[in-house]
Amino acid sequence: MNILLIGSGGREHALAWKIAASPLVTKLWCAPGNAGIAREAECVALDVADHSAVIEFCRRNAVDLVVVGPEIPLAAGIVDDLAAAGIKAFGPSRLAAQLEGSKGFTKDLCREFDIPTGAYRRFDNAGDALAYLRAQGAPIVVKADGLAAGKGVVVAKTLGEAEAAIAMMFEGAFGSAGTEVVIEEFLSGREISFFALCDGETAIPLASAQDHKRVFDHDEGPNTGGMGAYSPTPFVTPEIHDQIMARIIGPTVAGMKQRGIPFRGVLYAGVMLTEQGPKLFEYNVRFGDPECQVLMLRMMSDIVPAFLAACDGQLKNFDLRWFPEPALTVVMAAKGYPGDYKKGTRIEGLDEAAQIEGVEIFHAGTVEKDGAILANGGRVLNICASATTVTEAKQRAYAAIDRIKWPDGFCRRDIAWQAVEAEQG
Ligand code: AMP
Ligand code: GLY
Repeated sequence: MNILLIGSGGREHALAWKIAASPLVTKLWCAPGNAGIAREAECVALDVADHSAVIEFCRRNAVDLVVVGPEIPLAAGIVDDLAAAGIKAFGPSRLAAQLEGSKGFTKDLCREFDIPTGAYRRFDNAGDALAYLRAQGAPIVVKADGLAAGKGVVVAKTLGEAEAAIAMMFEGAFGSAGTEVVIEEFLSGREISFFALCDGETAIPLASAQDHKRVFDHDEGPNTGGMGAYSPTPFVTPEIHDQIMARIIGPTVAGMKQRGIPFRGVLYAGVMLTEQGPKLFEYNVRFGDPECQVLMLRMMSDIVPAFLAACDGQLKNFDLRWFPEPALTVVMAAKGYPGDYKKGTRIEGLDEAAQIEGVEIFHAGTVEKDGAILANGGRVLNICASATTVTEAKQRAYAAIDRIKWPDGFCRRDIAWQAVEAEQG
């Protein structure tokens, strides 16, 4: 089979690594890719926002399957356009991608199908939003309705912060993503990521993971795309797993089908484990980054038949096998991220780092120039490790990091601290 993968992050390097390992693959391309992906796939400089260019590439190269990594092309309807051109693509349609693209859409779906989530209201003007806010009090969560690159959520501890968030959003800080705002009840508990593969009708659980969204150790500093993750998380017990499947994932897939917009692709639920049980606080319509990296390390089965089964509505009798060993990933980012950072700084020692047992390095924002690897983005590398315990995987990943020479980069030193604490009793 010929496969085209779309994206350029650590998530896509992990996907490329896993897809390339499939005996079904004849040729793998990635658009646009990065320096690490170039070892697994031929990187092509396609403008993925130009759907007709992507279709033309697929026709010219007899591409049998397109796998879409990030949310932006999904929300732009790339899967619909490819399907209309007779090209199979893994990922949700534009309308189904509203589960991530519109917080209000998801909240209304939760209300209609009785999916546990925080109480909420939708607003299209600041006056009504402020009145509701004042009636509710803090803490409270203010969310821009649309896609805002992970920055559209303000968890406000005080009324003042919430009021400022409302003002910022209605003044256009997130452009059209903020013309509508959702105000949501603050949920307290442990936050986990849960992934399921869906074919429009059936959902099969992939695995649980825990991400670390804050930039600094001890969960301090601003939110990022994710600074590290591990899987599975001990906090998703078999009982909680079953509750998430029965009360959140199952009703979502059934509800989307009933609405006539079946969901095919990876459903990523952001779940808060509250005292009243698991509650959904957001959906994403793709693999998480960096959660995907640890999921790919743990997946024993070939992923290509799983993608095909999801596209073809054949997940009903499908079975995926996983390595029981946990995997962990630490993100190395350019100093300054998630604010301003420098590009073009040199990274050395990657080969030495990769020699540590159980270690796999996935690239995110990197380019290769004259044989050297240079940083080319905010999140730059994912140093991943598998082992028999999370504690050991963590030691391996940090031992690898200590071999990497990149004075312009940094990472968190406490990834998986909660799981490590749990392991050590
Ligand atoms: P998001 O951009 O939707 O991933 O949200 C960013 C972060 O805000 C999440 O990772 C949660 O930590 C937090 N968050 C979102 N919704 C809520 C909520 N209702 N209660 C508490 N925290 C939330
Ligand atoms: N790791 C969070 C995300 O992919 O949205």
